[in-house]
Amino acid sequence: MTGGVPDLTEKAQGNGPDSAWGVGDCGFVVAASRLPVDQVDGPEGQVEWRPSPGGLVSALEPIMRDADGVWIGWSGAAGDPPQPFDVAGMHLVGVGLSADEVRDYYEGFCNATLWPLYHDVIAPPEFHRPWWEAYVRVNRRFAQAAAQQAAIGATVWVHDYQLQLVPGMLREQRSDVRIGMFTHIPFPGYEIFAQLPWRRQIIEGLLGADLLGFQRHGDAANFLRACRRTARLATRGSLVRVPATMSGDARTAVAAQRQAADVSGTGRDVRVGTFPISIDSAAFEKIASRETVRARAKEIRHALGNPRVVLLGIDRLDYTKGILHRLNAYGELLSEGRLTPAEAVLVLVASPSRERVEHYRVLRDEVEVTVGRINGEHAELGNAPIHYLHQTYPREEMAALYLAADVMLVTSLRDGMNLVAKEYVACRRDETGALVLSEFTGAADELGSALLVNPHDIEGLKDAIIRAATISPGEAKRRMRSMRRRVREHDVGHWAETFLDALEQAPAPAVLTESTGQLSGS
Ligand code: G6P
Repeated sequence: MTGGVPDLTEKAQGNGPDSAWGVGDCGFVVAASRLPVDQVDGPEGQVEWRPSPGGLVSALEPIMRDADGVWIGWSGAAGDPPQPFDVAGMHLVGVGLSADEVRDYYEGFCNATLWPLYHDVIAPPEFHRPWWEAYVRVNRRFAQAAAQQAAIGATVWVHDYQLQLVPGMLREQRSDVRIGMFTHIPFPGYEIFAQLPWRRQIIEGLLGADLLGFQRHGDAANFLRACRRTARLATRGSLVRVPATMSGDARTAVAAQRQAADVSGTGRDVRVGTFPISIDSAAFEKIASRETVRARAKEIRHALGNPRVVLLGIDRLDYTKGILHRLNAYGELLSEGRLTPAEAVLVLVASPSRERVEHYRVLRDEVEVTVGRINGEHAELGNAPIHYLHQTYPREEMAALYLAADVMLVTSLRDGMNLVAKEYVACRRDETGALVLSEFTGAADELGSALLVNPHDIEGLKDAIIRAATISPGEAKRRMRSMRRRVREHDVGHWAETFLDALEQAPAPAVLTESTGQLSGS
């Protein structure tokens, strides 16, 4: 990273080695690992794209439309990227990954190095130099695509751990753009982060941004500590700590921004803040109020044998989610007779994820053996205590499952946020239902009225499950009402707005005047 005001003028005039990166005409650029679309087969077998119904997309869609925005991402398949295309009013630009890059960058460095490392080494991270080289290469490709799309003075918003080098790489080429970076997953404590052989490059890459957003105060604090310790970039000037009480609402977040540190050590003011992500809660409420969805919820309960209590877990099949801890606690409750298969059913949705990565394969085997063992020991004919579904469902079916469930179990061992917890709350319009929520999720900071658990404490988890299964209607209502207020008022639109406001208030980047190629501003 060069920092400050680098040699952009020279490059923009065509003299620099990277002048081919160019300048585009979009005022707002999103760079995320994935394009916000799913590939489907058209009626004549041709490839078609359907918008994937994520919260991020619904929050950014109106902003993208107003600012002539573009979304840069990977389609999820190896090979050449699709030609740029428009879906639901959004311009999409694909970044291609070769089959080797899918293996080394996506499955390797992203999901077998960074993912386990950033989730407190629940699984051991692997460090391989060719994986790192692929990560650098793919990040450069994303940075280049962003530079080619971004108009002079544009805002570029980079997302998540897959693209941590993009802010620095883009900054080197384009000091005129405003760069925001949001990390959706936890940022680990320094003792863990320090294992990464390329820790200095990661910190430098991130510090190319003007604003760095994290889910929780602890993540932001860990990042600042990593800056001080790893790169020794922040030893100049005075460091101001991220306030412990900072929350994601606009006023406090902005106040905290003002206190943010010059952590870059380059004279450029890099701001660090906490912006807990959320869901499109109005959209979920609306789906949950549809007659068809409500009828489907009844049908689900009926199919389960109309038990007294339906428990539900919905996750990607990932070792961070504490699925085995949940299963063990439930199995013990059945063994001890504190729950019986006649009164309780657990619906366990574990959607397929990263299936070619070794730890995910091992976990799948372990989950399936454990489900089989518990069902084998406790099922009666026509009455299985666990319904295990290794499938992915559309939002309507998810909402019906949320409506059918008396108890929602979120037992992550480490989780940046956990949007499933918020989706459950958003769907419970009648203020019934109980949420058992791991304190190791970002959501626990906001949903203090959930039944909070330490999933490693199996006895505590069992007690919380029984408490949730036998909660009085009055207590359930009190807890659910307060959680619903939080989720309604702090939806994903609020999150995006708060982040982008804070980004706008970051010191102005250098401005490149197109006609002269001269830089002005700071
Ligand atoms: C997490 C990450 C996202 C990622 C998603 C799905 O939520 O924060 O960046 O896209 O998991 O994982 P995948 O590997 O399928 O993209």
